Amino acid sequence: MEKFVINGGKTLHGSVRISGAKNAILPIMTATLLTSGKSILRNIPNLNDIKMMAHLLRIIGARVDFHDGLLEINTEYCSYYEAPYELVSKMRASIYVLGPLLSRFGQARVSFPGGCAIGTRPVDLHLQAMEALGSYIDIEHGYINARCKKLQGNRIKFPKSSVGATANALMAAVTASGRTEISGAALEPEIASLIDFLTLMGARIRGKDTDQLIIDGVAELHPVEMEMIPDRIETGTFLIAGAITHGDITVENCFPDHLSHPLELLKKAGCNIKVTDTAISLHAPSSLKAIDIITKPYPGFPTDLQAQFMALLCLATGTSTIKETIFPERFMHVAELNRLDADISLKDNIATVKGVPALSGAPVMANDLRASAALVLAGLAAQGQTEISRIYHIDRGYEHIEFKLNKLGADIKRIQG
Ligand code: UD1
Repeated sequence: MEKFVINGGKTLHGSVRISGAKNAILPIMTATLLTSGKSILRNIPNLNDIKMMAHLLRIIGARVDFHDGLLEINTEYCSYYEAPYELVSKMRASIYVLGPLLSRFGQARVSFPGGCAIGTRPVDLHLQAMEALGSYIDIEHGYINARCKKLQGNRIKFPKSSVGATANALMAAVTASGRTEISGAALEPEIASLIDFLTLMGARIRGKDTDQLIIDGVAELHPVEMEMIPDRIETGTFLIAGAITHGDITVENCFPDHLSHPLELLKKAGCNIKVTDTAISLHAPSSLKAIDIITKPYPGFPTDLQAQFMALLCLATGTSTIKETIFPERFMHVAELNRLDADISLKDNIATVKGVPALSGAPVMANDLRASAALVLAGLAAQGQTEISRIYHIDRGYEHIEFKLNKLGADIKRIQG
């Protein structure tokens, strides 16, 4: 198993280019199943989650070719409608095939996703949406078995904002008969990007960037080519890498509008931020200020940046609080950050972070994707050496993170351990 070894205390300088957004690409990959033919996706990072989704599409019968940042997906010969346990247990986003398979084959068999490191993650809203569109669902032997004659448009009212359920509902509705009205839809940029992709394919969707979507089903969609949006979570992570090392960095090829809330918080913490249409420059202060954070659905503060901000606040002057409202148990990184001499206490879904003058390097263990990023950030700032094991988590969502950080002046090595 590979590890990262970080010699901390180096100030980061320079610019870094952001990769395509994994969480936008995964549902779009499954949306290619809605038509027969070759779609081309550009700006694709080399990430394990993308390769795993490509593997799932191949099981379904697609031909998937991934080279030079391009994904070519030919769905002409798809004939299988199952997402097996071995894949779903490794990548929950496999549930994104549910809507497209129902649309294409009138049936889908998807392993029921279990728990994961960030807590309980039900899929009831996905299933309710599929039922509303006329499918019958049984759960048997750990599998979701869904079938329908033809999906039928309907009203879907989500009681809470869910990115995944909104994506599945959209993908099922675009070829359903008649009109579907979704209220309470998620507003995340990854949903807007999926709407752009489906619209390019010929879908008729109104209400993008609002929580009320109206979809008029069409008989047929066609294959398309589209550039994927930049990853807002990778963007935020690199900005924090600049802030936590008292550095001066520019993050390029990003969409600053997708990070309004995190940028406001970085400013409150004392960072000087400048934005253009596609770049963000951050100049860190010599001493950071404590801030309070509450995670919320977009455009609120993203839960996927909670752990990374926590790493930053460990070194702020004063006491910060972080309230996690999306995944209330998403705090596995707290114990690991405390191993680096942070002072974080936890009560229910609120973490209290007392700033300390310095972190000190130690062996720590990554336990989920974003928690691993937080440990890397803390390691960059800590005095001495930090060794992070189980970094396969980080390879799911950050492309070449050690190359990008080393180019900015960090000292981070990947070793066999
Ligand atoms: C997606 C992201 C994940 C991010 C999360 C929240 C991908 C591949 N993953 O996950 O990185 O942290 O959005 O921004 O894009 N819920 C239910 N029932 C459901 C579905 C969700 O109760 O059927 C709840 C969840 O437990 C959570 C909330 O809704 O409390 C939001 O989850 P959701 O937006 O669905 O997250 P994912 O789509 O799984």
